[in-house]
Amino acid sequence: MADAQTAQPDIPRRDFLYIATGAFGAVGTAAALWPFINQMNPAANVRALAKTEVDVSAIEEGMAIKTIWQSKPVFVKRLTAAEIAEAEKVDVATLRDKQTVAERMPVKRGWLVNLGVCTHLGCVPLGAGQGEPKGDYGGFFCPCHGSHYDPLGRIRRGPAPLNLEIPPYTFKSDTVIEIG
Ligand code: FES
Repeated sequence: MADAQTAQPDIPRRDFLYIATGAFGAVGTAAALWPFINQMNPAANVRALAKTEVDVSAIEEGMAIKTIWQSKPVFVKRLTAAEIAEAEKVDVATLRDKQTVAERMPVKRGWLVNLGVCTHLGCVPLGAGQGEPKGDYGGFFCPCHGSHYDPLGRIRRGPAPLNLEIPPYTFKSDTVIEIG
């Protein structure tokens, strides 16, 4: 009976071994790559965390709540008519980060949704919780280095360069906001 060497007389035994090793190597590499590629597809629970739903039905005018979106604190605040009127009196040209009232509440007038992350070095500002200091402009105050934000989260004094960031969000209904 013919063995592998006699069946393929033109391929020396050493070359045959190289070819066989190469084939196993390719299979091995593909198998090793699969878990790596699979890790690059976010798991269902990670995809779910990409969006956060918040029930805002209990938030009365003048109140705010803190929530978490993608591991970051988010403040959801319902402004009073007086706060909005006061904010509209501010000359936008005088602001460090020039945003109008409408730009700060792009989805629904009266509702502010912004990250609770100071734009200086990332501390969590105070002002969304009951009894917390709101700073000299009645909005949010970052105690780390003294940044003062107004009720619309616009930087007014201190080292922070920008207004508090507004994440993507929509109202799914009158009482539910979806962030993300
Ligand atoms: S981190 Fe907020 S003022 Fe520095």
